[in-house]
Amino acid sequence: MSAGRKYGHGRPMAFHREPIFVIPLCIIVSWILISEWVAWWLSDHLFHMSILTIAGSPSSRSRSSSLLHFVSRRLIEQGFRVEQINLRDIPAEDLIGGHYKSAAACALRKQVSRCKVVLIASPVYKASFAGGLKALLDLLDEKSLSGKLILPIASGGSAGHLLALEYGFKPVLSALGAQNILTGVYATDAQVQFSENGVVIMAPDVLRRLEESLAQITEYVQPEVAQPTVGDSLLRCKLSA
Ligand SMILES: Cc1cc2nc3c(=O)[nH]c(=O)nc-3n(C[C@H](O)[C@H](O)[C@H](O)COP(=O)(O)O)c2cc1C
Repeated sequence: MSAGRKYGHGRPMAFHREPIFVIPLCIIVSWILISEWVAWWLSDHLFHMSILTIAGSPSSRSRSSSLLHFVSRRLIEQGFRVEQINLRDIPAEDLIGGHYKSAAACALRKQVSRCKVVLIASPVYKASFAGGLKALLDLLDEKSLSGKLILPIASGGSAGHLLALEYGFKPVLSALGAQNILTGVYATDAQVQFSENGVVIMAPDVLRRLEESLAQITEYVQPEVAQPTVGDSLLRCKLSA
């Protein structure tokens, strides 16, 4: 008689007891997997970022991006989650080729889809907003800005193209479904300057308008989980004389 038959069931003892251990183990593993999934879902849908900034300047030292960073830093201080997209983060071939299915384009659409507020900044180029930013917006889905609060920000060489915000920028945002677009902030180069050590110096009028926009945003959306994700260098702003 084989060892397995000693107990009279035709199977070794170890095999006989297997279901006693396997079933609770399966329950525990399933429970862990389900709770992991629920935690992921909640963090992705409820607690994830509510504010997205899109910096549309191709310049590494950018005035329009500085205005954007000023607002995003103030929002982070108030407990909002802010994520950033920079035009320079999207591969040029995706922008030029309009590669809708590229990894960068998919990530961009996902970020846009789950935010409540979009702050979007651009320099004025040839009397309108920057072409690179338009290429980025072209990678979004139709109506992807629907239901979101939008703050457009622009900087230009002079006040002459102030209306680029109204006639160039806002119609494109509206075409993407944006219905709730704030007045926006436009600054001239003279109003946003860099000191020798890179400190941004903004005119009081620009700071005031940024603060007003900030107040409108914070009325619209409440802070969620305060986990700053912006890793940019400390932005210090001084009032210009
Ligand atoms: C290619 C190019 C075109 C520009 N066209 C205009 C324009 O039509 N009107 C204007 O006011 N400024 C124009 N400017 C000046 C920029 O809008 C201005 O310097 C802006 O603050 C730059 O923003 P940034 O530092 O965020 O890139 C132009 C600059 C460049 C490089």
